[in-house]
Amino acid sequence: MPELQIPQPSEKQQLFLTDEHKYVCFGGARGGGKSWALRVKAVLLCEKYPGILCCIVRKTYPELRANHIRQLKALLRCGQKDALARYNDSDKSLTFPNGSVILFRYLDAESDEDRFQGTEVDVLFLDEATQQPERRWNILKACVRGVNGYPKRIYLSCNPGGVGHEWVKRLFIDRRFKEGENPDDYAFIQSLVTDNAALMREQPDYVEQLRSLPPRQREAWLYGRWDIFEGQFFEELRLEPDLAAAEKAGCSLSPEELRREHRWTHVIEPFEIDPRWKICRSFDWGYRRPFSVGWWAVDYDGVVYRILELYGCTGTPNEGVKWVPEQVFREVARIEREHRWLRGKRIRGVADPAIWNAERGESIAETAEKLGVYFEKGDNARLPGWMQLHYRLSFDEQGFARLYVFSNCRAFIRTLPTLRYDPLRPEDLDTDGEDHIADETRYLCMSRPVAPGQAAMPDNSNTGPLRLFLDIDERSLPPAPRLERMRVVRGGEEATGKEQDNT
Ligand SMILES: Nc1ncnc2c1ncn2[C@@H]1O[C@H](COP(=O)(O)OP(=O)(O)OP(=O)(O)O)[C@@H](O)[C@H]1O
Ligand SMILES: [Mg+2]
Repeated sequence: MPELQIPQPSEKQQLFLTDEHKYVCFGGARGGGKSWALRVKAVLLCEKYPGILCCIVRKTYPELRANHIRQLKALLRCGQKDALARYNDSDKSLTFPNGSVILFRYLDAESDEDRFQGTEVDVLFLDEATQQPERRWNILKACVRGVNGYPKRIYLSCNPGGVGHEWVKRLFIDRRFKEGENPDDYAFIQSLVTDNAALMREQPDYVEQLRSLPPRQREAWLYGRWDIFEGQFFEELRLEPDLAAAEKAGCSLSPEELRREHRWTHVIEPFEIDPRWKICRSFDWGYRRPFSVGWWAVDYDGVVYRILELYGCTGTPNEGVKWVPEQVFREVARIEREHRWLRGKRIRGVADPAIWNAERGESIAETAEKLGVYFEKGDNARLPGWMQLHYRLSFDEQGFARLYVFSNCRAFIRTLPTLRYDPLRPEDLDTDGEDHIADETRYLCMSRPVAPGQAAMPDNSNTGPLRLFLDIDERSLPPAPRLERMRVVRGGEEATGKEQDNT
């Protein structure tokens, strides 16, 4: 019988190979020998438990091939006379003579998720777990089952950063468990590149490569720091009044009062908007992912209010309702015909320039136009766009922002706080998140750019030529009397429009 020859594992890999927790997460940094440990553990389990079914999961098939299939075929001498397993390329599986099997499966698109829903395996290996959203972790957990005596486990590998950063950190680093999660099931074994003796020996300059990364990235990938990409992308977004900031500014109003006065909060109760205010519409196209339409009122000071939205989401976050463009714009046109805030208005539309792409026949913008829904091409420069949004969200010293959201715009309120930094481009937003509303808001902001900080909108009362006639200290002027123009619409329902977001 030919022998399986496995190189010596590192100390950390040894710990991982012998760990028997139900969910074991390994690595937490680049180059720590994670993928190696996962695939070797799969082979060892296959040898130990005849007939066991293992599955190695990664985001894409090319990654599976480059990180696992190729190496395992070599290790198990597939295709040679003394082969230890047989590789079947059509169903991407390795079968051992004792009946054990390793399946290779990718999980990226939603159609891939459907495939997993019917899968049943004993042990699952999720390589690069932080590249997967939490929803997929739940799907994968449900695949690990079966009435047989084999162990039922999931082994994960990960690096900090990525769309799955939060849930992996919560379960394995912070160990903040929810009801129904048993802390005894979870173990984390950290392995840094410096723990990977084999790599340090073979490719010592790899550490140098990691050292030369930008600081945030270096901290995360070289030293395994998880708090680097901490926090949401729109840190300054306040769904509730920020009491600490109000107090610091010497304001002692209650949360209700602050909310009523639109101070230190971005979410406000709907009010009856001035019929003379301009109305804008921003749009981000989506089919499998949600499309998003936002309607904005612009007051005389240039402050924008998200008053209504139509978000094409099924109720499962980030899942589109799959409406064709015709359906979307028919609905948009109907809402604009019927809603009292929009009826009869000249609405200025702005959208992702990609909707003018006519490679596959009529462009989405053309379809919209045929149905009477007009757009201008939005400016898609991402970083300047995010800066515009940040500027608008910042509060002045009295707690006023330049962008508000009516509380009926539930999809905005749900999705914006979930957005994270892009680990590879820390000043940008991670596009794996549910970013359609953020994008559409960004186009809107770019179409009405403002200067940074509120100081950039001075009334010049102390410095401009008016100073000669208006001898009042700027600071003694009362807050802008915006509120007098705003009557609160109770309950919000009246302003809700026809939202599709049921979440
Ligand atoms: N015990 C070992 N013996 C021999 N080579 C090893 C061992 N562990 C890891 N290696 C080799 O070290 C290199 C890096 O390991 P691996 O790819 O598993 O790291 P990783 O943590 O998955 O890296 P990445 O973060 O890039 O995904 C690979 O070439 C791998 O084959
Ligand atoms: Mg790897």
